[in-house]
Amino acid sequence: MAFPPSFLDDLTARNPIEDVVGQYVALTRRGSNLFGLCPFHAEKTPSFSVAPDKGIYYCFGCHKGGGPINFIMEIENLDYPDAVRFLAKRAGMEVPEDEAYRSTYRKQERLRALCKEAARFFRAQLFSPAGKEAQRYLVGRGISSQTVSRFGLGFSPDTWSSLLDTMAKSGYTKEELYDAGLVLKNQKGGYYDRFRNRLMFPIIDTRGNVIGFGGRVLDDSKPKYLNSPETIIFNKRKNLFALNVAKKTKEELLILTEGYMDAISLHQYGFDCAVASLGTALTQEHAQLLAKYTNQVVLTYDADEAGQNATRRAIPMLERAGLQVKILRMQGAKDPDEFLKKYGADRFRALLQRSENQAEYRLQSLQRKFDLNDDAQRVTFLKEAAELICTFPAAVERDIYGRRAAEAAGVSPDTMRQEISSAYRRRIARAKKRQTQADLDLNAQQQPKEKGLHYDNLKSAMAEEQLLAQILKDPVLLPEVKLHPEQFSSPLLGRVFSLLLQCQRDGRPVSLTALEGDLTPEEMNHLSSIARRRDTLVSEQAIADCVNVIRGEYARTVGTGPEALRAIQQQLQNKKGYGG
Ligand code: CTP
Ligand code: MN
Repeated sequence: MAFPPSFLDDLTARNPIEDVVGQYVALTRRGSNLFGLCPFHAEKTPSFSVAPDKGIYYCFGCHKGGGPINFIMEIENLDYPDAVRFLAKRAGMEVPEDEAYRSTYRKQERLRALCKEAARFFRAQLFSPAGKEAQRYLVGRGISSQTVSRFGLGFSPDTWSSLLDTMAKSGYTKEELYDAGLVLKNQKGGYYDRFRNRLMFPIIDTRGNVIGFGGRVLDDSKPKYLNSPETIIFNKRKNLFALNVAKKTKEELLILTEGYMDAISLHQYGFDCAVASLGTALTQEHAQLLAKYTNQVVLTYDADEAGQNATRRAIPMLERAGLQVKILRMQGAKDPDEFLKKYGADRFRALLQRSENQAEYRLQSLQRKFDLNDDAQRVTFLKEAAELICTFPAAVERDIYGRRAAEAAGVSPDTMRQEISSAYRRRIARAKKRQTQADLDLNAQQQPKEKGLHYDNLKSAMAEEQLLAQILKDPVLLPEVKLHPEQFSSPLLGRVFSLLLQCQRDGRPVSLTALEGDLTPEEMNHLSSIARRRDTLVSEQAIADCVNVIRGEYARTVGTGPEALRAIQQQLQNKKGYGG
């Protein structure tokens, strides 16, 4: 969805960056800029800056940056169009939407209202005579009425159309109920309630909308849980159960469980930082969502094999999102719900405090793969353990876990120590080799930090960066720059240059904020880091120097012959990812 440029200019003008950011971050002025603690990464001294004159923010620590729209995308977890709408609402502006969007949005709003009303219906059923058995079930499982209301639990009666009939009275059509995933179609084209005779768990997003349901049977019949399917308002990859509550926790961590009941139990026992996935495997999107609210995640998946496999898969995803991961292992209970009932909150709190770091978890997981009574397996275990332990950063950790592995395999600590140090030496040698290569290759250091951005011609790209930094600092110089966008070696920087020219031609402000809709968040981060460089000195001579380098490199690499054509073709192919 493209918004008209004039609207976007108006939008950014009416949402000054310092005001928008100021609603989330306490800022203090230092010179012409404002500083605060970065909301996107954990820090104790402020490296997050806002430059009102440029209309951008930039973090010198985590390199995130951009204009108000980007900021809202990041902090509110919205895509570009929704961030625009968010800011429009904030400034009391009307958004010029196209018809297609209007109709999808209207439909989503309608389904959200529908789901909310369905949740009310289920809740009312729980407290009606039809819900007697479900109430008994809840009591049996020790769920308090306070917990029931905190999570909006309900009951779907044992009939084929109670929900259909009730919602019809409120003006919702069968098709709408179908689109919301609440009813099913039979072969004859008739509709019937999807959830029948089940305890209902509404799934609520972080903005408080009911977007789907999980439903549990009241006995041992199968399937134990039914869940809403994916709909235009329900994306299982991007939502977590109970995060709407847990996001407000004062704890410094979030507890990730496998089951709805585990999350609910944890809350009831005072751990208001528990969330659960939605009957699906954890995704990278989930990890990123969690990272918006915490720095540390404790995994409390079930002790069975499936749970342990899920744990192994989740760790790298969570770490990639910048989260510190700990693993809580329970004994004497299969899941947190059972553990809490058997042993109480204090014991769980103790487990939480003792929850293993990854090192311990990984060594134990490795150990479990081997039968240590078998000599051959013992040798392999020791070798693999040494490879693993030598990656632990602290010497004391290597010592402790080395001893542990030695003990498990029945060898002397000395033998193990030798194994670890030779694994360590091999590792250091490998790392050294890599380092030398990196040192030789200055290239690596000057490449953009953002994934997917890469400069093919570093010399030219450095000049292009400097040139853009100067233009952004002092846009009046733009007309002095006698270059074509095609002469830029970096497609991204060339595109930015041409967009800036376009702004100038249209009489719009020449600034990064004007480009937010045209650049991805990664591109915007990178450009913001260029614009925020402290060492940019603007002068006509400096501009002329940059222009000369860019022209020279263009002539050298692209030239004018058929060679040139091939080079351009090659570039295009690389860019679009063809071939191979
Ligand atoms: N699940 C599902 N469909 C099933 C079984 C499980 O979608 N047939 C999902 C649910 O999200 C459930 C989670 O997997 O919460 C974990 O399953 P399980 O451990 O069996 O459920 P618990 O939450 O522990 O439920 P309970 O304690 O009531 O048995
Ligand atoms: Mn359970």
